[in-house]
Amino acid sequence: MAAINGYPALAELHGRDLLSSADLTAEQTLALLQLAADLKAGRIQVDLAGKTLGLIFSKASTRTRVSFTVAMARLGGQTLDLNPQVTQVGRGEPVADTARVLSRYVDALAIRTFAQEELADYAHWASIPVINALTDLEHPCQTLADFLTLQEAFGEIGGLTLAYVGDGNNVAHSLMLCGALLGVHVRIGCPVGFEPDGAVLEQSRTLAAAHGGSVEVLHGPVAAVRGAHALYTDVWASMGQEEEKAERERAFAGWCLNEELLAEADPRAIVLHCLPAYRGLEISAGAMEGSASRIFDQAENRLHAQQALLAALLGR
Ligand code: CP
Ligand code: NVA
Repeated sequence: MAAINGYPALAELHGRDLLSSADLTAEQTLALLQLAADLKAGRIQVDLAGKTLGLIFSKASTRTRVSFTVAMARLGGQTLDLNPQVTQVGRGEPVADTARVLSRYVDALAIRTFAQEELADYAHWASIPVINALTDLEHPCQTLADFLTLQEAFGEIGGLTLAYVGDGNNVAHSLMLCGALLGVHVRIGCPVGFEPDGAVLEQSRTLAAAHGGSVEVLHGPVAAVRGAHALYTDVWASMGQEEEKAERERAFAGWCLNEELLAEADPRAIVLHCLPAYRGLEISAGAMEGSASRIFDQAENRLHAQQALLAALLGR
């Protein structure tokens, strides 16, 4: 399996965790995107025969679950569903015990949960790579697919302007951190009270300063998207915020990513959404289905980006 030797920046990722987009350097992120593009084009093959990825998902998932499962299958490995409902995790077995036991059976864990601290706890106790498959704080696997999609549309990523309009949530946080690393100008447009986390904002601004990008928070949708190369949105109420849905719909009135907003962006601008989407709320049906939309390529790219990540963490 000499394959990934051609990506020297990935050597240090072997056996590591991916808990945050900021766990990667700019060089590692770009190398992962290159490997993902090469895997997608069939220019390279990686063999993870005999490797098993455990999936511990405490929240619903279509894309992440299926793309990780198919990614492992395509690489010759396998996945195991270790959801809390079917394991002793649901009965309260401590993370310290679960993580140490599972490390004796499987080669990596992809975990979707609420608190970032719980993910960090798994990573602390596990002796195998732990991958963030979404927490309330971040969604780094999504972001790799997002920047792969931008790379396909524009070639060079550094210097582009990415406007995210909506809630300052997990998806926004990973876009800010990864975008900052890649020298992207990231604009977060959100209503007052729905800004991204202050610590993530500070961290992403530090990274942006070192890599030639910027991270701005704006409170008007038009100001956020003007001249941008990519318009991105996500649901207004994330998993775990179901009870706030009605209140959030009121607060986000006027923040729909629609054709009018798209007209304010760069003429080459693409439309992105991590999915699942609510048409008529955070995005219009027209923006989703229009010619600028790359949303379904973006969803496909989850598969290629995660194959690259698994190859880097587990390949030799
Ligand atoms: N975008 C994303 O993570 O989708 P799922 O919740 O379906 O995995
Ligand atoms: N922000 C959303 C993303 C879903 C993929 C959530 O956390 O529910």
